[in-house]
Amino acid sequence: MSKRYTITAALPYTNGPIHIGHLAGVYVPADIYSRYLRLTGNDVAFICGSDEHGVPITIKAKKEGVTPQDIVDKYHTIIKTSFEDFGITFDNYSRTSAKIHHDTASEFFKTLYDKNEFVEEVSEQLYDAEGNQFLADRFVIGTCPKCGNEESYGDQCENCGTSHNATDLINPKSAITGNIPTLKETKHWFLPLNKHEQFLKEWILEGHKKDWKPNVYGQVKSWIDDGLRPRAVTRDLDWGIPVPVEGGEGKVLYVWFDAPIGYISATKEWAARKGKNWEDYWKKDDTALVHFIGKDNIVFHCIIFPAMLKAEGSYILPKNVPANEFLNLEGNKLSTSKNWAVWLPDYLKDFPNQQDVLRYALTANAPETKDNDFTWKDFQARNNNELVAIFGNFINRVVVLTNKYYNGVIPGPSDLSSVDQETLAAVKAYPSVIASSIERYRFREASQELMNLARLGNKYLADEEPWKTIKTDEERTKTVMFVALQIASALSVLCEPFLPFTSAKMKNILNSRDNSWDNISSKEILLPAEHQIGKGELLFSKIEDAQIQVQLDKLEASKKANEVANKAVEPQKKEITFDDFTKLDIRVGTILEAKKMPKTKKLLVLKVDTGIDTRTIVSGIAESFKPEDVVGKRVTVLVNLAPRKLRGVESQGMILMTENESGDLVFVNPDIKDISNGLKIS
Ligand code: 2FM
Ligand code: ZN
Repeated sequence: MSKRYTITAALPYTNGPIHIGHLAGVYVPADIYSRYLRLTGNDVAFICGSDEHGVPITIKAKKEGVTPQDIVDKYHTIIKTSFEDFGITFDNYSRTSAKIHHDTASEFFKTLYDKNEFVEEVSEQLYDAEGNQFLADRFVIGTCPKCGNEESYGDQCENCGTSHNATDLINPKSAITGNIPTLKETKHWFLPLNKHEQFLKEWILEGHKKDWKPNVYGQVKSWIDDGLRPRAVTRDLDWGIPVPVEGGEGKVLYVWFDAPIGYISATKEWAARKGKNWEDYWKKDDTALVHFIGKDNIVFHCIIFPAMLKAEGSYILPKNVPANEFLNLEGNKLSTSKNWAVWLPDYLKDFPNQQDVLRYALTANAPETKDNDFTWKDFQARNNNELVAIFGNFINRVVVLTNKYYNGVIPGPSDLSSVDQETLAAVKAYPSVIASSIERYRFREASQELMNLARLGNKYLADEEPWKTIKTDEERTKTVMFVALQIASALSVLCEPFLPFTSAKMKNILNSRDNSWDNISSKEILLPAEHQIGKGELLFSKIEDAQIQVQLDKLEASKKANEVANKAVEPQKKEITFDDFTKLDIRVGTILEAKKMPKTKKLLVLKVDTGIDTRTIVSGIAESFKPEDVVGKRVTVLVNLAPRKLRGVESQGMILMTENESGDLVFVNPDIKDISNGLKIS
């Protein structure tokens, strides 16, 4: 029976592009679910948009020396385009800077304010006197009171997921100046979560014990068991939606207050465009509201937003919040700041027209019940061993043989053998098997059932061997090809939620626009005899080791860059006086000759023109430079260092060296034209 669904996917922060962690955790499963619901005849509003407020955006803008508006404009376009190119079928992708959102969020706040649902309180908040700023959310870092993570943010610890108030942090430090904050009084509006504790207990702990995922249920239970406390829903910041009530001047709504309301404003925007009533999607009891999110968003979608909706009074609550765990990359946590990620725009460029490969690899290995690891080798294997060798191979054989034997016209079958009948019966069972997995948010399992149907097709062809029977039994061959074509047709429809680009290609090849999931079980025949199909087209192609190596090299480069960036800067040495400094006689010189010191690995014996004289200097650079590479080099020489003997050779000075970003030894090089040897450096 057709039903109305509001499906939301977490609004991504607009401070960087989308990466595979976002895709696997939220957007691919949400898209599979929405596509499936549409295919099965439901009324779906699939909603998302850019989360354009909040501290991460301000921090990024500060770092790049631009305005927050510049940042959100840039990334909103990048994110929206890459979602479209990847085949994510949002009915509306909006943004929280849109006027409709500012109005909706302000109105929501005012309604709660008028209903006395907030507690207004002047309290001491963390303040950075040097930065002249209150330290909300990501502007402050400290030790998480729950798990001891020393890098917890003010509003949430990314390690244990706990959501807290900034003043709960142990040893807080300003993320702006590094200073230890002071406390300063300020007024804020708090949502008294404690007031909603009983309702949350009944609604989730008693009402959704069975149908919510254990990871989601478990987190919610632990928060409720710890006791809920009032949470500030306003901030002393200048980027966000202004607090729309008296006394709110200079303050904005907490980003986690406004962002989920973004789902509502994006629905309004879409409904207005489509001539629909948005309230049907948010206020009717027979609408199913489902939030797709990552595990770090659970508290906001299962406790805070429902408490807001309940307090407002006219909204439905989510039917389910199928949050995923995290995806790691090649054994390490995905990280935007460390560039440890596979970025969607990069993937689309590096693997053109291969969206379905990534969709499949991420689904087959989705972090549904625990954190999982994405590896490029697994990606390659999913493509080569499953999409190419099983799925693509089956479709290719069916299409090529139909064209070869019958010029693409589907042959009529004779009597069906028991194997044929069993095979067709097995095909008819697949829609409900896959549907059952999807409806329980088990997308990995669903994708494997889909692959099993392709396996079934391959086994059928391998057992019946039409390429052999064509020489001995034409009638039997026609029947086999007819059955195989029914399997191909079923696959073209059932793969649509997972492999939408492939599904479109297959429907084109099979010249079949039948798009109904239910027909596969209910119709006797999917593709009738005499139906003309088109020519074959390769659905998937092998991914070579060299392509994978390019991706691994990119990650290696990120790793190296991080190692350099993280290298601890040595602490400053003990202070010296100006007189101490003037004792050093540093000159420009040129290396005239170089040879290896016999029986050593590290030492080169150099003849250096110091402008004063030509002298011998023994330098420990032989592992980094060949003698012939350094002859003629301009160098910086400490000339009045007391001579000392190294391996029997007197060294009369020192050449100054440092390390470059990759950790290689380099000369401190007076790389300036028109200076002569002997010039003093001071
Ligand atoms: O974690 C995030 O990326 C948030 N921007 C998600 C917001 S979801 C919603 F509530 F809008
Ligand atoms: Zn923690």
